[in-house]
Amino acid sequence: MNKQLRKAVIAGNWKMNNTRFETKALIEELIPKVKDADCGVVVCVPFTDLETAVNLTKGTNIKVGAQNCHFEAKGAFTGEISASMLTEMGVEYVVIGHSERRQYFGETDATVNKRVKAAVDAGLTVILCVGEMLVDRENGVTDELVAMQTKIALGGVSKEKLSQIIIAYEPVWAIGTGKTATADQANEVCAVIRATVEKLYDKVAADALTIQYGGSMNAGNAAELLSKPDVDGGLIGGASLKAPDFAAIVEAASK
Ligand code: 13P
Repeated sequence: MNKQLRKAVIAGNWKMNNTRFETKALIEELIPKVKDADCGVVVCVPFTDLETAVNLTKGTNIKVGAQNCHFEAKGAFTGEISASMLTEMGVEYVVIGHSERRQYFGETDATVNKRVKAAVDAGLTVILCVGEMLVDRENGVTDELVAMQTKIALGGVSKEKLSQIIIAYEPVWAIGTGKTATADQANEVCAVIRATVEKLYDKVAADALTIQYGGSMNAGNAAELLSKPDVDGGLIGGASLKAPDFAAIVEAASK
């Protein structure tokens, strides 16, 4: 982290976990544990939990995010949710382009780009996910692939709107597997992302960009990952479902 240059943000991605009842219990447990955080704290919850999460976190330092949104403003898109539906509820963040959406729901770099633009135009802060599969790493194309994902996703996003973007580097082979990228591996790819953004915009914009690492980040490995200069936070899956674990990561980012 380089807190002089940019904000550290720890975000939980709950994925398809927690009913409203469970959401209430988890957020109530989390609020006192993270109240003194010296970093941004976000929980990205299922659509059905958003209202509960927004209401419970009012007046606290916890922000609420969704895990996806559609790129059209409205219309015949059964099962989809628009960006303005989220902002009207008080949702401030949205995860876009998570690898699970790319793998299981046909998300492409092109649709990620459309969703990113719709979300920032609606006033949301986007947590844009990029990351390579194991086969890409084995083929030595991680840097090129992540640079390409970043470039396509940010197409048409103005420099002003870049302040509403966080990029999460999530190597797909590290998600939910217990295999974390080493701190050096994470930092190296986060630096590639920053260099890509510098080429697209400029150094000031790239220096100000928060870049998270995600993939089996937990209370035990967070401090080491966050000690790296280009790792500005984390996007946490499994460990965000337990308040003490998530709070420990927030604490590591608050140092
Ligand atoms: P895990 O922390 O469970 O590996 O998940 C990471 C992730 O996909 C967050 O978006």
